[in-house]
Amino acid sequence: MLHLKRRGFDLGLVEQPTETTAPATEHVKHTWQSDTAIVLPQLLSQDLQKHAENIKKSHFLMQNVLRTAEFVPFLEKTPYLENMQKNFFIVAASPEEHDEQGIEKVYVDAFENNEDDVVAEELWCKASWLSFHDEDASLRFRFSWGMEGYEDVSSDPLKQTWAGKLCDVIFPESSIITQNDTILDHLSSILGKNPSFVERIVYFNAPNGGAQFHHDVERGHAGVVFAQLSGSTFWLAASKPKLMDEIIAFVQHDNNQAAIASVLPEQAQQQTLTKLCQNRDDLSCYMEEPDHELIEALIDRCPTFVAYMISQGFAHHLQAGDVLLLPQRDIDNCVWHSVFTIGDTPGEALSFAIR
Ligand SMILES: [Fe+2]
Repeated sequence: MLHLKRRGFDLGLVEQPTETTAPATEHVKHTWQSDTAIVLPQLLSQDLQKHAENIKKSHFLMQNVLRTAEFVPFLEKTPYLENMQKNFFIVAASPEEHDEQGIEKVYVDAFENNEDDVVAEELWCKASWLSFHDEDASLRFRFSWGMEGYEDVSSDPLKQTWAGKLCDVIFPESSIITQNDTILDHLSSILGKNPSFVERIVYFNAPNGGAQFHHDVERGHAGVVFAQLSGSTFWLAASKPKLMDEIIAFVQHDNNQAAIASVLPEQAQQQTLTKLCQNRDDLSCYMEEPDHELIEALIDRCPTFVAYMISQGFAHHLQAGDVLLLPQRDIDNCVWHSVFTIGDTPGEALSFAIR
């Protein structure tokens, strides 16, 4: 049994879903095209051994950032300094005071032959907390370029590529994804071209951490590949239409009214939720609103709904060496996903957008 806890909400004990067989390429492509998450179990076992030293170093970096709430000072030391110097120089560091979750951001330019030959500017890597919860020590390192939150990042593939290369030098274990023949074969067959891995995030999901249900649709990106390098995570993943089907079925079933009332105690809230579930378009629009508390209460905090989603086959348990593919076709057909950290130690994971 697995215990699902996230930022103070206890979703209870659940059966451990198992995935043991590696799916064939045709099956992976078909599953992707039907907007369904795919697990490639234990694909990375050998790579994890090869990168054991890098993974150890990254764990150490994570602990240092956690301990000091600083990031850039560590990039100016061995081995990061030497690895970066070949193609990058640090332009500035920002304490990200405007962003409560931000720890520190480093701005970097990339050059090819010498420092005068700059090929990409305003690249950055930002270390952040994943939440404001005192008991969730989850961290992430995100790689991108330009004005965060304003820029259309997909408008400049060259900068995206160099931000990816910056991730390669700070977290060399990135090649576990980017040079994995099986991942490349699957994605080439899906995309009809060689994939590139952009908008990268290196996660350290700590106990009590994870992510609420969300999607990762971004213009120009086909989806996300997630690799569990250490630790373990539990996932619920369903395309938006399927998630809406399940929300509607759950809300309209008489037996679930007490469970709904446990997370939405006010009758007015329950009535609004019931009404939303009577009109698919209204429900769909509501789910895209930044504040969609009525749905959040149900899909992120209601143990009976989580158990229901598991019974409907939407759960995955990722252990070190597992890979998860998450298609993100468009806003109406993307795979929504919810993540829980399992176990007592923070684990490292790579989450790269596919272009
Ligand atoms: Fe995500």
